[in-house]
Amino acid sequence: MSDGATARGSATEREEARKTAEGLEHLSGFGNEHSSEAVPGALPVGRNSPQRAPLGLYAEQLSGSAFTEPRAVNRRSWLYRIRPSAAHPAFTRTGNGALRSAPFTQTVPDPNRLRWNPLPAPAEGTDFLAGLWTLGGNGDVTQRSGMAVHLYHANASMRRVFSDADGELLIVPERGGLLLRTEFGLLHVEPGHIALIPRGVRFRVELLEETARGYVCENYGAPFRLPDLGPIGANGLANTRDFRAPVAAYEDVEGPVEVVNKFCGNLWAATYDHSPLDVVAWHGNHVPYAYDLRRFNVMGTISYDHPDPSIFTVLTSPSDSPGLAGVDFVVFAPRWLVGEDTFRPPYFHRNVMSEYMGLIEGAYDAKTAGEGGFVPGGGSLHNMMSAHGPDRETFDRASAAELRPQKIDDGLAFMFETRWPVSLTPQAARAEHLQQGYDDVWQGLERHFRPLH
Ligand SMILES: [Fe+2]
Repeated sequence: MSDGATARGSATEREEARKTAEGLEHLSGFGNEHSSEAVPGALPVGRNSPQRAPLGLYAEQLSGSAFTEPRAVNRRSWLYRIRPSAAHPAFTRTGNGALRSAPFTQTVPDPNRLRWNPLPAPAEGTDFLAGLWTLGGNGDVTQRSGMAVHLYHANASMRRVFSDADGELLIVPERGGLLLRTEFGLLHVEPGHIALIPRGVRFRVELLEETARGYVCENYGAPFRLPDLGPIGANGLANTRDFRAPVAAYEDVEGPVEVVNKFCGNLWAATYDHSPLDVVAWHGNHVPYAYDLRRFNVMGTISYDHPDPSIFTVLTSPSDSPGLAGVDFVVFAPRWLVGEDTFRPPYFHRNVMSEYMGLIEGAYDAKTAGEGGFVPGGGSLHNMMSAHGPDRETFDRASAAELRPQKIDDGLAFMFETRWPVSLTPQAARAEHLQQGYDDVWQGLERHFRPLH
């Protein structure tokens, strides 16, 4: 890109995007059969595919599940658009940048506990797609199983349009608001929110500040859903009404638009003669959504011990084994600690599941913050059966603390917890921002054992 202002998008453009973002309406709920039309009368009545769709639009189905999957998990949407998606030229391979996909076989799986600082600043003109950097993952995109952990650091709004055939994208902004222009309409997310773009849905990311940074879980497996609540009852954790879906909004743009498609691990590009974000009306349940993590209804003990962190599950991608998630998205949100005679920080732990943790803001209560520590934009990986838990300072402090009710309100951390070990990409295994000496955190935990009273 030749001109910095053009590449990054001008301040005026960002202001415009912010104004748009802050004025958005949305639909409410999770997994609903939503419907929306940007122009009255654009949705057909009583059928999906009339002989002539209203207003001269094309009717098109987007299937997020096999036609024959049970009704409870069946996902599809009907889109009424200016041109059908089929009207495009051939895609050709384009560079993958720092984006990688499963199977991850280029490094030896590492049992060590690992921690990274935030991604370094990108080159001028890096948009969300170019700013994606893959840490690692598991499974196989061609088998629709497993997941990838990506980070992003961008300083330009996308001019192009992206879609991911390999999985859904759970976007976790850590710095900088985003305006997501999708086929279904617009979503606005800020740090502390999440956005989800379903498999195959086209979208563009515009920046609301000069830079944007965050995390992405690319889920190759079953779409994220809300966890069952069991004895918790009918309410709690992430409440369905707090999820926002977009209302229909379309672009009627003629002229070259680059469209990039991620397919079986590679990026493919084609230049359309129109914007594919041209859906005037839609209905269905395969839809993008956003959620404010601060609305999470945090549950915890009111007696002693604390529950396993699965109590903090926002979304889960189930596998064929009941209770065994391909990946869970878990949030550590502000909450009260009141347990009596209880070691209150997260306990020492070895887990058959593998845990990637990130920090959206503040500090995490099992880790001392600070330079070289667990910092916003950084992340840690505790792979299958690796031993982890509070650092020495936290252990000493918590073991001696007076157990008054205590509010944890200075941090927002999250976890992608997955059933398979996370293998690293070479760029993550050799990254300059991979911290050296993370093991030191657990050194000096003193011997306190006294066999005789
Ligand atoms: Fe753990």
